Amino acid sequence: MNLQRTLVALFVLGMVAAAAPGYAQHDAEVTYYKDILPIMQENCQTCHRPSGYNISGLIAPMSFMDYKETRPWARSIARKVESREMPPWFASAPQGVFENERGLTAAEIDTIVQWVDAGAPAGNMADAPPAVQWAEDANDGWSLGTPDFVVKMPEPYLVEDDIYDINITFYAELTEDILPEDTWVKGWEFRVGDNQVTHHMCSSVIEPGAFVPPDAVEDEGADVAGRQLLSCVAEGGEADMLPDGFGVLLKTGSSISFNMHFHKEPAEGSAAWSDPQIAFFVADEPVKHQVINDTLSNRGFEIPPNHPNYRIGSSRVLDKDILVLTYWPHAHLRATAARYVAHYPDGTEELLLDVPHYDQSWQVTYKYKEPKLLPKGTRIDVDFWYDNSPERASRRGFDPNRFVGHGPRTDDEMSLGFIGYVELDESEAMPAATNNN
Ligand code: HEC
Repeated sequence: MNLQRTLVALFVLGMVAAAAPGYAQHDAEVTYYKDILPIMQENCQTCHRPSGYNISGLIAPMSFMDYKETRPWARSIARKVESREMPPWFASAPQGVFENERGLTAAEIDTIVQWVDAGAPAGNMADAPPAVQWAEDANDGWSLGTPDFVVKMPEPYLVEDDIYDINITFYAELTEDILPEDTWVKGWEFRVGDNQVTHHMCSSVIEPGAFVPPDAVEDEGADVAGRQLLSCVAEGGEADMLPDGFGVLLKTGSSISFNMHFHKEPAEGSAAWSDPQIAFFVADEPVKHQVINDTLSNRGFEIPPNHPNYRIGSSRVLDKDILVLTYWPHAHLRATAARYVAHYPDGTEELLLDVPHYDQSWQVTYKYKEPKLLPKGTRIDVDFWYDNSPERASRRGFDPNRFVGHGPRTDDEMSLGFIGYVELDESEAMPAATNNN
């Protein structure tokens, strides 16, 4: 053993002695500024920061921007990351294919737990990484950048005191002033406004002159000619930016719908103004693929009273090759699980998305890193499971003693398997399309 080695050994022994009882020599080294803040910046601060532009309730009620804010939550943070409840992510499979996948590595969880066990020390501020720069702060609140144009409802709407649950649609025309020529957009972002009453907002593009059925309100996902869903934001949703080469064509003279679902406790003084906005981002690359946002849906079901595990499914056989960009399983309070499966023409099958613990307060859109090819002839099955038992009812607040069908209110149910994709012409069919996998 040379001298240097001996000194290190003595030093380590000294640290162990200083940190007695126990053998916590690691703990003394894990500090907030050096080890924890980088993990928080990367995985937590998008939601744990002072709110302001709280689109769809993503922003948590507690901010973890600095040591002072974070320290009081240390115990709770360790618990939430160990149980993998935070950061929130609900798909158990597949892993590594979705661009917005959240999660900590085992090593990161370990580091957080060690830090908390050691008393959550601050450490040396000089070790801290630079603060995160948020796109919103530089872009007037928009997370996707500076919009090319913003569309609003013709006028704000007052959700009056006595309103409990209402689903209502407004339309704004894309006049020549707003949109002088037909334009490909590659992204859009909704802002529901600073109120606590918006349960969801959906928006569609309606072709110039297309008929809008008066009962379109609750069925944004329905197939209606001349109408194309952009997206919905609900609790836990995020803005959409499409990959290069993909877009949605907005034609001058078409209309944009604002389908608003408001939900609150009726009370004097509970009224709130709603003045939602949609920011659009014009595609600067040439667009090759028109994106379609569609649903595999079942609207004809009745979940029996008190049934603890009722399955509702829908399927579709593809008549063209498609490239899938997104899935968004949408259901309400009774839904416990959701699953998308592809049955290929050669008889094999593949699990496209598995959400074993569905939580309606986290309406996640699963976005592929690389668009997923599903060849013509593939059958897609979407299944949801529902728990209409009194036990769940007492936790989630619904009536388990009735048949529940498709409906727009929070205590009705839905079984909508949204899917965002583009159709490929024969000429574009990819080499992979010929061998199915
Ligand atoms: C996508 C948004 C989002 C991300 C990312 C996120 N959180 Fe949260 N977090 C929330 C929301 C919303 C709440 C409050 C509602 C709830 O508890 O579900 C919350 C609550 C919490 C709580 C409070 C639980 C309690 O005791 O009430 C802790 C602790 C927490 N998060 C830790 C973390 C940590 C640590 C990370 C990163 C590793 C993280 N969160 C990432 C949205 C997020």
